[in-house]
Amino acid sequence: MVDAAATRPLRLAVLRPTWPADARMPGDDRPGAVHLAALDGDEVVGAGLVLAAPYPERPAVEAAWQLRGMATAPSRRSQGIGGLVLDAAVALVADRGGRLLWCGARLPAVAFYERHGFTTEGDEYVQPETGLPHVHMWRGPATTVGGSGKVSG
Ligand SMILES: CC(C)(COP(=O)(O)OP(=O)(O)OC[C@H]1O[C@@H](n2cnc3c(N)ncnc32)[C@H](O)[C@@H]1OP(=O)(O)O)[C@@H](O)C(=O)NCCC(=O)NCCS
Repeated sequence: MVDAAATRPLRLAVLRPTWPADARMPGDDRPGAVHLAALDGDEVVGAGLVLAAPYPERPAVEAAWQLRGMATAPSRRSQGIGGLVLDAAVALVADRGGRLLWCGARLPAVAFYERHGFTTEGDEYVQPETGLPHVHMWRGPATTVGGSGKVSG
């Protein structure tokens, strides 16, 4: 498991580029949030985090977890790094007994999540912090728990 601070510079640069360099990112202050990093040597090239959180489309579902902060360094995209982080997140949530994993997906990332078993649900909405259109996506638990030597979590 990596500390939130390890991936914060990448998450800030990719997801909140107008925020100050010392800003706290969504999820950073949530106890129980698990931060994942894809490392190339000491360099953080991919990031994501999961935390237990009700699914807004179906708040009564128990053991729901949220995926947040998915970011790959721009020069390293389309090399499978985001997929590795996402696979590690899915496995971690399954390992912790999670029964549903959801995210608020930016529209350009919807196809990426669909390739990893997520389904859109509900209406598109504008995420207030970024002003960008999003849609909720969800998937069930992993059927197998796996891992990757390239991802620290
Ligand atoms: C979404 C995001 C995290 C995906 O990260 P990534 O590291 O590029 O993800 P992957 O490489 O696993 O998959 C992305 C693409 O690479 C392709 N790919 C997967 N493995 C590959 C490999 N080994 N070699 C080449 N291409 C590969 C995938 O098919 C996919 O294709 P696409 O370009 O049509 O989407 C990244 O694009 C990003 O940081 N985007 C900006 C921030 C963002 O929108 N975050 C999500 C907020 S909800």
